[in-house]
Amino acid sequence: GKFQSTNVVFHHATVTRARRERMNGHKAAVLWFTGLSGAGKSTLAHAVEETLHQLGCRTYVLDGDNVRHGLCGDLGFSVADRHENIRRIGEVAKLFTDAGNIVLTAFISPHRADRDWVRSLHGEGFIEIHCRCPIEVCESRDVKGLYKKARAGEIKDFTGISSPYEEPDKPEVVIETSDMSLDDSVDAVLACLRNRKIID
Ligand code: PPS
Repeated sequence: GKFQSTNVVFHHATVTRARRERMNGHKAAVLWFTGLSGAGKSTLAHAVEETLHQLGCRTYVLDGDNVRHGLCGDLGFSVADRHENIRRIGEVAKLFTDAGNIVLTAFISPHRADRDWVRSLHGEGFIEIHCRCPIEVCESRDVKGLYKKARAGEIKDFTGISSPYEEPDKPEVVIETSDMSLDDSVDAVLACLRNRKIID
């Protein structure tokens, strides 16, 4: 079968997530940044991480740089591959939160069903942050030159051009990344974490 875990026995840890959280002085959580290519997910995730780190929190960012080259290096951008990308990232994020960390993920994650699946995997420590930016702005910046290539038909299934982006229905935080300063955006995310008692 597809899953080889039939005869695998789990051992119970005595060092639990709750004990790690107590030692760390903050809750574990997943900050799930979603939005178009070029909307600023990665920039905001790293800025939030920097602030949390300075506050003494245990953090880790999962983004394309450390995931699409390694763990998900075999995946492309079809619906099925994006689904598998998000599934793996969701599961890795689960391991990171079990280890007591605040994990920040920066992936387009264009499909609502995939994001909702990750939300159900994580429960209450899941914070969805919509980095909202008009596609015209992303396209005019075109930091990586990918929109130009997508328009020219050199990249197929490009999010926002030839592949859908489904906006979140009820994200915990919406950041208008073309209107708001990076500092104000970081403050908005931190306010949400304090509200939810993830950090003091
Ligand atoms: S997904 O949809 O969540 O699985 O995508 P993700 O892992 O975040 O990867 C998005 C980055 O890959 C580059 N890229 C593409 N994006 C969208 N569509 C297509 N077809 C594509 N091909 C390559 C692009 O640089 C995205 O980077 P970001 O950081 O989002 O700008």
